[in-house]
Amino acid sequence: MRHLYVHVPFCPTICPYCDFHVVRRGKGLVESYLDRLEREAAELHQKYPGPLETLYIGGGTPSYLRDAELERLFAILPWRLTAEAEVTLEVNPGTVNSARLAHIRDLGVNRVSLGVQSFAERLLRFLGRRHSAAVAFRTVSEAQELGFSVSLDLILGLPDQDVRRELKNALALGVSHVSAYTLQIEPGTPFAVAGLEPDPDREAEHFQVARDVLGDAGLVRYEVSNYARPGAESRHNLAYWRLREWGGLGPSAAAHLFAGAAGIVSRRFSNPPLPRWLAGEPPQVVALIPLEFAKEALMMGLRLREGVDLAALAQKSGLEIQKALASTARELLEEGLLARAGERLVPSDTGMDQLHRVVLKIWGALETPSGA
Ligand SMILES: C[S@@+](CC[C@H](N)C(=O)[O-])C[C@H]1O[C@@H](n2cnc3c(N)ncnc32)[C@H](O)[C@@H]1O
Ligand code: SF4
Repeated sequence: MRHLYVHVPFCPTICPYCDFHVVRRGKGLVESYLDRLEREAAELHQKYPGPLETLYIGGGTPSYLRDAELERLFAILPWRLTAEAEVTLEVNPGTVNSARLAHIRDLGVNRVSLGVQSFAERLLRFLGRRHSAAVAFRTVSEAQELGFSVSLDLILGLPDQDVRRELKNALALGVSHVSAYTLQIEPGTPFAVAGLEPDPDREAEHFQVARDVLGDAGLVRYEVSNYARPGAESRHNLAYWRLREWGGLGPSAAAHLFAGAAGIVSRRFSNPPLPRWLAGEPPQVVALIPLEFAKEALMMGLRLREGVDLAALAQKSGLEIQKALASTARELLEEGLLARAGERLVPSDTGMDQLHRVVLKIWGALETPSGA
């Protein structure tokens, strides 16, 4: 296990579109969280001593923890990091200043993922964000001055959003990584309850603008919604998309670990939400048999520009992947949704945009290998 995710579920306010596992901080709650995290980390470390190549502290809002709490969080994690390890912390603009960022850097963090979402005041209010565009600009600059590698999150697909301008603002800041998601209306969130609906045409147009503007500036779309200068890709998230092995700590955290058991390639673990996690409830475990593993590897891998190495997947899963996919892959190639690069099956930009359809066809072919 070379990759670890730690979930910090606390947020100052809950944004009306957000479906992540988040809570407000109550009295003593952060302390109980850290106590439980300490036990969970010690147990996992015993079985998987690392060292870690990537560590990702996400949330929620990890930067909402106080200095001493963050210090304890890092002290709790017993893993050694490799010399080149990527250590990311998710930061909300408005929760840090230069001094706090310097403290975060001194704890070993070298990459921050900043939830900017938009540079338009009207849209920040629409999204229920607490920070202004000016604060976002300042936070990015401060983080860069301190030497962090900075990734910036934007939400596209918003009503009357000047996407070109949003992206130009991001580029003007000189960041090397941009995550550009389209607004998802998640069931049960205040946005869903208010009847907001996605607008697929607007989303497609915004995706296209993102590709053009970021691409022209040298940021490669290396994953459906992620753009980076070559070398600045998120190594941690690449481990997810390549379906490698990673551990997860904290409420609702997920993990994926290889099994070494007959008939099972790997296992997925999902921790329960905060109250049950604090009470010591173990994660739910799902065993991935070769077919499930292959389906998952294809679904995740086809999100990536680099695509999926079918020969490697055949070896890992023990399935005759190339044979099973041959005719469907040919059809998708003819439609311009996929391309072949040696043993790799790689998505085109249109394939990335229509990933859902591509994956359903690929899964269908795997489940009925005769093509019947
Ligand atoms: C786990 S969130 C945490 C980031 C941080 N707490 C913040 O809000 O700035 C990571 C990113 O997911 C994206 N996100 C969350 N909910 C979303 C939604 N419903 N639709 C699209 N993007 C969303 C946002 O861009 C957010 O920055
Ligand atoms: S701050 Fe981030 S994690 Fe927290 S509610 Fe808002 S979007 Fe979700």
